[in-house]
Amino acid sequence: MKKTIYFLLVASVVFWTSPVFADKPDKAQCPQKRTTKKAPVKFSKLTNPLEATEKRLKKGEELYMDKAQPIQCLHCHGARGDGTGELGLQANPPARNFTCAETMKNISDGQMFWAIKNGIEGTAMPPFSNLEDWQIWVLIHYVRQFGK
Ligand code: HEC
Repeated sequence: MKKTIYFLLVASVVFWTSPVFADKPDKAQCPQKRTTKKAPVKFSKLTNPLEATEKRLKKGEELYMDKAQPIQCLHCHGARGDGTGELGLQANPPARNFTCAETMKNISDGQMFWAIKNGIEGTAMPPFSNLEDWQIWVLIHYVRQFGK
């Protein structure tokens, strides 16, 4: 009996420290390590042309929670925007924590626009190439309000 318990203990330590779990946080991190590639200049210079009105924030929320295809943002970035959606912490690198001002202050509107439109190669962030530009801009307003 003792042997079995000992074995289970060792096995679980080996399991949880195995490389499969390396670098995978179990809760939102802030500041969050960020190694994302820079958007090309033609994107990074863009600024949000739309004012953040109630109506637009509502549209952004709809897309984030419900409508964006192929998969809605909340599944990775979480309903609270902290990156803890059911696929968010598992991803490597993990999904961006929009509530973390320290990390988000370095990400320009244009950088976000590029990331949402084209996805981020080599990460779980998918491209949303079917969204209209205005839909991406209202999403960006919505994403930013998590940090306020
Ligand atoms: C399948 C998971 C997944 C979904 C769905 C997803 N994202 Fe992401 N997203 C990620 C990951 C992972 C990263 C971090 C990539 C990195 O560190 O380079 C990320 C990063 C970002 C960033 C930060 C880019 C940067 O330069 O740091 C923004 C903005 C973003 N996502 C917006 C969205 C929006 C808006 C949606 C919905 C329309 C969405 N994401 C849907 C996984 C996802």
